[in-house]
Amino acid sequence: MNLKDYVANVPNFPKEGIQFKDITPLMSDGAAYNYATQKMVEFAKKQQAEVIVGPEARGFIFGCPVAHELKIGFAPVRKPGKLPRETVSFNYDLEYGSNTLCMHKDAIKPGQRVLIVDDLLATGGTVEATVKLIEQLGGVVVGCAFLIELEELNGRKLLENYEVLSLMKY
Ligand code: PRP
Repeated sequence: MNLKDYVANVPNFPKEGIQFKDITPLMSDGAAYNYATQKMVEFAKKQQAEVIVGPEARGFIFGCPVAHELKIGFAPVRKPGKLPRETVSFNYDLEYGSNTLCMHKDAIKPGQRVLIVDDLLATGGTVEATVKLIEQLGGVVVGCAFLIELEELNGRKLLENYEVLSLMKY
């Protein structure tokens, strides 16, 4: 199956000059969606993941089915003000401004083997923050799985010490 057949390239979204990779056609095709998540499941098994972590919102779309298939847990990474109990947070810089991501303090047990799942690796800022949160909680990042990697943005450079799976490269 060629997963790229199920990604719509949308020019000038969300702003002029950006070509947005719309994954909703892939999600709405049962066979393609299942194929993509199964590839991540295989990787999770190989890395012996014990829990899946996914950043909101599109990380949930792929992370949850992987966790469900493996009968392991899923822990969300969220923007500030969304998680109701005690959290850890990590702040990172963007081209303009900064971003903060949070996890519940008890989301990961020390020593637990964690696979990060998200739809997209672009600059790597999101996944790097996610790695920091997991490691702050004592978790062991055994890999990072993405549906799409935008190679020219070099996000993989931030993940040199980790196993990375990307199902499509642009
Ligand atoms: C997108 C995407 C990744 C992140 C990748 O999320 O789902 O999480 O950007 O970019 P990076 O590698 O440059 O950090 P977005 O912040 O648009 O949030 P959403 O999933 O809630 O739409």
